[in-house]
Amino acid sequence: MKRDRQTLPIAAIREENPSLRTFRFDTQLEAQAGQFVMLTLFGEGEKPFSILDENADSVYITVKNVGPFTNRLFELQVGALVSIRGPYGVAFSLENKRVLMVGGGFATPPLRFLAKSLRARGIDYLVNVNGARSQADLLYVSDFEELCDRSLIATDDGSLGHRGTSVDVMQDILEEETFDCIYISGPERMMKAAVDVARKYGIPFEVNLERYMKCGVGICGSCVMDPNGLILCKEGPVVGHETLAKVQEFGVSHRDKTGRILEI
Ligand SMILES: Cc1cc2nc3c(=O)[nH]c(=O)nc-3n(C[C@H](O)[C@H](O)[C@H](O)COP(=O)(O)OP(=O)(O)OC[C@H]3O[C@@H](n4cnc5c(N)ncnc54)[C@H](O)[C@@H]3O)c2cc1C
Ligand code: FES
Repeated sequence: MKRDRQTLPIAAIREENPSLRTFRFDTQLEAQAGQFVMLTLFGEGEKPFSILDENADSVYITVKNVGPFTNRLFELQVGALVSIRGPYGVAFSLENKRVLMVGGGFATPPLRFLAKSLRARGIDYLVNVNGARSQADLLYVSDFEELCDRSLIATDDGSLGHRGTSVDVMQDILEEETFDCIYISGPERMMKAAVDVARKYGIPFEVNLERYMKCGVGICGSCVMDPNGLILCKEGPVVGHETLAKVQEFGVSHRDKTGRILEI
């Protein structure tokens, strides 16, 4: 696994929807699904981003334009230089054979990478539930259809698939089928609801958490979670059910860049 900083030209940019773009960098990071990189833009600092995919030649990162750093990234064209360090953090486990993945919103990129990795390892049975506000916000629908044995969709407005959340669909599936593990990535309120369902059915799970990250390597303390001091950038961002049981702030609160505690 390579962790040195590299300054690379953007090799390609793909528009997923008006506020989401996928950036390709031609390098090898030997990353695993769930890990993240720190991107630097000169003058805008460094920010963490999950890895959407890696193949023999390239690494892909999907970015939502939400503020100064991502605005600046969206202004860049192919060929502009971006500095990358990583990959960092704990990835999803790959040993399970019957897997349910539950995703929400634009947090689905790590699940797409996970689906590809599980398929490459010869998983027996893989089901994905992809949730979003509307059809226009759904990501990687055809990729999940190709990679999974069952691929289900939930939209809040009912424009495609089940009208409701991915957690509603998860609950319906668990009435019919059982799994070795459930992998969850989405907004924290959605993940909290999914975790409550997974616990109700007694199925182990892993969640992909986000907290404010400055260094990404366990030095600054900005990503530490209460009350047990879990250092999310090193001990996460993927956290298993046993560890999560000790993290009381999950679904309740998080810290902003100054360390101030805010409600989820
Ligand atoms: C492990 C991890 C993986 C992530 N993966 C992705 C991804 O694949 N695609 C993507 O678009 N975004 C991802 N993010 C969120 C991304 O880091 C923020 O969207 C980005 O930093 C926003 O910066 P900004 O200056 O554009 O916006 P700002 O206006 O500075 O922030 C907008 C919001 O982004 C979040 N944010 C800002 N800075 C950070 C930071 N240093 N660490 C964590 N969250 C921050 C906060 O919720 C903030 O309210 C990830 C975050 C983490 C922790
Ligand atoms: S981001 Fe600095 S310790 Fe985690």
